[in-house]
Amino acid sequence: MSSSYKASVDPESQALLAQENDYSAAGPAPTPSAHRPYRLRHVVLAFVAGIISAVLVELALCSHYTLPFSSQDQSAVYADLASPDAGSTEVHRFPPSAPTNAFPSLFPSNVGHAGPTPTGAEAALVATAPSYPLHTGAPHLLGPLALNRNASASKSDPSFDIFKHWGNLSPWFSVERDSFGLDSGPEAPPTCRVTGLHLLHRHGARYPTGWASYGGPANFSSRLHNAAAGWNASGDLEFMNNWTYKLGEEILTPFGRQQLFDLGVSMRMKYGFLLQNFTASNTLPVFRTESQDRMLASALNFAIGFFGYPLDGQYQQSITIEENGFNNTLAPYKTCPNAGDRTKSDRAIPYVQQWAGIYLNDALARLRPQMHGYELTIEDVYTLQQTCAYETVAIGYSKFCELFTEDEWKGFNYAMDLYFWYDSAFGSPVARVQGIGYVQELVARLTHTPIPVHNSSTNATLDDNPATFPLGQSLYVDATHEVVVLNVITALNLTSFAADGPLPADHIPEHRAFKSSHLAPFATNIQFQLLACESEPEPQIRVIINDGVVPLTGIRGCPEDADGKCPVPAFVDAQREIIGKTDWEWACHGEWSVPPGPAWNTTTGDAPEPGSVFV
Ligand SMILES: *[C@@H]1O[C@H](CO)[C@@H](O)[C@H](O)[C@H]1NC(C)=O
Ligand SMILES: *[C@@H]1O[C@H](CO)[C@@H](O)[C@H](O)[C@H]1NC(C)=O
Ligand SMILES: *[C@@H]1O[C@H](CO)[C@@H](O)[C@H](O)[C@H]1NC(C)=O
Ligand SMILES: *[C@@H]1O[C@H](CO)[C@@H](O)[C@H](O)[C@H]1NC(C)=O
Ligand SMILES: *[C@@H]1O[C@H](CO)[C@@H](O)[C@H](O)[C@H]1NC(C)=O
Ligand SMILES: *[C@@H]1O[C@H](CO)[C@@H](O)[C@H](O)[C@H]1NC(C)=O
Ligand SMILES: *[C@@H]1O[C@H](CO)[C@@H](O)[C@H](O)[C@H]1NC(C)=O
Ligand SMILES: *[C@@H]1O[C@H](CO)[C@@H](O)[C@H](O)[C@H]1NC(C)=O
Ligand SMILES: *[C@@H]1O[C@H](CO)[C@@H](O)[C@H](O)[C@H]1NC(C)=O
Ligand SMILES: *[C@@H]1O[C@H](CO)[C@@H](O)[C@H](O)[C@H]1NC(C)=O
Repeated sequence: MSSSYKASVDPESQALLAQENDYSAAGPAPTPSAHRPYRLRHVVLAFVAGIISAVLVELALCSHYTLPFSSQDQSAVYADLASPDAGSTEVHRFPPSAPTNAFPSLFPSNVGHAGPTPTGAEAALVATAPSYPLHTGAPHLLGPLALNRNASASKSDPSFDIFKHWGNLSPWFSVERDSFGLDSGPEAPPTCRVTGLHLLHRHGARYPTGWASYGGPANFSSRLHNAAAGWNASGDLEFMNNWTYKLGEEILTPFGRQQLFDLGVSMRMKYGFLLQNFTASNTLPVFRTESQDRMLASALNFAIGFFGYPLDGQYQQSITIEENGFNNTLAPYKTCPNAGDRTKSDRAIPYVQQWAGIYLNDALARLRPQMHGYELTIEDVYTLQQTCAYETVAIGYSKFCELFTEDEWKGFNYAMDLYFWYDSAFGSPVARVQGIGYVQELVARLTHTPIPVHNSSTNATLDDNPATFPLGQSLYVDATHEVVVLNVITALNLTSFAADGPLPADHIPEHRAFKSSHLAPFATNIQFQLLACESEPEPQIRVIINDGVVPLTGIRGCPEDADGKCPVPAFVDAQREIIGKTDWEWACHGEWSVPPGPAWNTTTGDAPEPGSVFV
């Protein structure tokens, strides 16, 4: 996939691959009216570039020449990926920056002779199957062969699944049917027909982020390898004597790539029939993602799964800029200063620290004596758990996983819940305001009415242009980050997830509705499903998170409904009320601050009221 997005800056590969890359690679998509001229111009450019490249290839063949287009860009890209800052102690660079056998002209991407290509009807599993196929397991990943049983030998649970205990680092899975309190599934309820889908999903599994506010495998690896005295390990940790840190930073892993491809395939099989709407109206779908490497790679892998190769002519990919100062509803923290001001919004870490000191106490006592010349801390032991998850989703297996007991994995999972509750969801003073931009867009799409005023993270240039932000389509797909997914869940008033109030840092509540592994795992996805039901006069909407149907009863006007349905007009009225009460200026720029810990709480994701004691 990387070659297809590089194509936008690279005339040679554009010349060679022009047919594949028009839509997936060209950044903000052409407007419908500009469609033909764009294609023509493109072809002409491609032709000129083709002549130039042919000349260059001639030169190349005479002079042990290496490809001009790839070397510079790629060495820059890969130098970044392998920069020592990632803390890696072992790095393999691929592809080579100057391969000696690369002759693109000898490997045309289209040689004709495709054989018969008649197509059939679109799949519609969500409507035609007696039940909905679930997403289980994590193909290609190997879990620990055994967990540490020292502390928990007596209570091992045969159904325990470590992959579901990594919080936001879990690979996404279909939650159990009644996880969110409704005994209903994603398949269309009786007498209902699916008429539309708005999908919001996260990127797939990635390497650790560069910066970690607590823990962080790269940071730990650097500390270890910089330890002046030298260290060695014994017992359960003996494998560390030969361990190297192999992870890079931020980008999608091969497994993450597969997650998005699979999600694309799955959505096509369930909702493919919605594409008939585009053929009927003679339009193309517009999917959105952000400019970050893993976001773009995720979106394109989804598209390959959904549309199949080649992507050209099937859809338009909007790639919005994720950078400080750019309004972007899918990266709202880039324009909300208070969200980036840790004295205001970084409430999460003290809770995680407190909890780690409790649930990892035994593990620390167990592991510390097995490491010599380096004294492990609670944060280090927490990092060993993170390393288990990150290594598994990146390289398929991690020896670190078996160091811990089932209870310690439950503890880790809960640490993630604490983090995300206070950082990105109902416990954060900047959660709702960051989710509100997407809610405004959702309302615009549901009502086929442009956003009236741009006073949040919305981007008028994009959202007021029907080419880049079409209304009245039957299918929308947006890619974002887990924090934004949680911001949106909070902003929408999906209050059943907040039912247990502020999460405590000293124990795991017996029943808790808020689980980051259910709401924000790798490739997490929210289906906003639109329905026409014989039993209801008005169009209905349902919210389905990782195949779990969410009750909408926290949204004013949405009735109790066994299938989680709410009439679209009531849903829209409530969301408009929420938008009206959300004050971007105050929450993002206001002079307020809240103390760390339980001296101040929110369970709605709102900043303190103007005039309250924290202002
Ligand atoms: C590790 O993180 C700490 C703060 O959390 C930072 O001061 C330090 O520079 C980091 N070290 C490395 C090697 O990344
Ligand atoms: C670990 O590395 C040491 C020294 O390089 C080597 O002698 C030993 O065989 C290695 N052990 C394993 C299990 O690979
Ligand atoms: C809106 O998005 C466009 C396209 O990504 C970008 O050029 C522009 O700077 C953005 N506007 C604002 C105000 O951030
Ligand atoms: C269990 O842990 C205790 C101390 O925490 C240690 O002495 C003992 O050797 C461990 N047993 C096993 C089987 O690992
Ligand atoms: C392990 O490290 C300790 C402390 O640095 C040192 O005393 C000991 O000799 C080392 N053992 C081996 C086998 O290297
Ligand atoms: C960007 O966001 C700010 C803050 O909400 C808003 O004032 C401005 O109008 C937006 N710009 C665009 C082009 O949407
Ligand atoms: C396509 O879907 C939208 C949204 O459901 C609907 O308003 C529109 O009428 C449909 N268009 C056609 C041509 O079926
Ligand atoms: C949103 O939830 C809050 C807190 O539960 C509630 O006070 C408010 O009325 C709800 N608003 C709407 C429009 O649903
Ligand atoms: C935007 O402006 C409207 C009208 O002035 C106001 O009601 C609303 O609270 C504002 N929305 C945000 C997100 O700031
Ligand atoms: C915040 O919530 C915690 C846990 O429910 C509670 O103990 C504490 O008193 C609350 N703080 C305030 C100021 O209400």
